Amino acid sequence: MILVTGATGNVGRQVVEDLYKGGHQVRVLTRNPAKVSFPAEVEVAVGDLTAPQTLKKAFDGIQSVYFIRVPGSEAFPKIAKASGVEHIVFLSSSAVELPVENAIGRNHFNTEELIRQSGLKWTFLRPGAFMSNALRWAGTIRTESVVRAPFGDVGTTPIDPRDIANVASKVLVSKGHEGEIYTLTGPELLTPIEQVKILSNVLGKDIRFEHLPEDIAKETMKRFAPSEIVETLFQISRDTPTVVLNTVLNTVLNTVLNITGHQPRTFEQWAADNAGAFQ
Ligand SMILES: NC(=O)c1ccc[n+]([C@@H]2O[C@H](COP(=O)([O-])OP(=O)(O)OC[C@H]3O[C@@H](n4cnc5c(N)ncnc54)[C@H](OP(=O)(O)O)[C@@H]3O)[C@@H](O)[C@H]2O)c1
Repeated sequence: MILVTGATGNVGRQVVEDLYKGGHQVRVLTRNPAKVSFPAEVEVAVGDLTAPQTLKKAFDGIQSVYFIRVPGSEAFPKIAKASGVEHIVFLSSSAVELPVENAIGRNHFNTEELIRQSGLKWTFLRPGAFMSNALRWAGTIRTESVVRAPFGDVGTTPIDPRDIANVASKVLVSKGHEGEIYTLTGPELLTPIEQVKILSNVLGKDIRFEHLPEDIAKETMKRFAPSEIVETLFQISRDTPTVVLNTVLNTVLNTVLNITGHQPRTFEQWAADNAGAFQ
């Protein structure tokens, strides 16, 4: 049986769907079972990644795990190994590979290290920015047809969380992926301004992009995310045109195609499939 953590999240929910459709036995871990709406055959374990004593039952009979890190989940790999888990597929981040020291990369690298030390067989997935990050614009698109953001002309290669999930589920159920690190990108380099143009076309409405001064954007974001992470995101965006040019942040890779056999989904496709969230 396969345990899926983060199963109510952008990537995890698609991992569950892929595994279920593929006829695999799946158990999901959640803190809040009321959030779960999977078919009845999908087992639900209630537990908290930061509270090891809540995880014991979740591991019963599990061979493989899809794992996302949350702050405080450091003990997870060790407990997984002690509970008989053989293989862990970890959702890491391409920030690990940036040539500049940064908190997002450091946090994910530390978790990779804990997994390496645990004795589990492992596969690391290192995606860049998720297309679903555009959902943070949904409120002002709905109410004012505007996106206010900094760094409008800094390109990244956003990836559809469903493609990350397709890779994760493939890696969980097929051989030959142990000890591999897969850096994952979407199919094209896009700036926020270009993403907003695509959203305009898909939604059939004229959405303006307004440049938001860095200090205002930072303060707003710090209301929702840890200060250290916000500082990192801004540092990376500021550095992208120079320091991190031609790195994983703005290079398109073939990894999704090589592992899944299909091209990664475009931002246009993602926007069309998620149009409801912006209307
Ligand atoms: N966004 C990006 O651009 C980006 C880029 C690279 C890597 N990543 C990685 O992707 C991860 C997020 O993945 P996602 O977008 O699929 O998830 P998400 O949509 O942000 O959802 C978070 C998931 O984490 C679970 N969770 C949170 N705290 C938990 C806890 N204490 N115990 C158990 N479960 C907990 C939630 O489950 P319940 O609420 O059901 O318990 C939920 O399923 C990030 O943490 C980061 O490591 C993100």
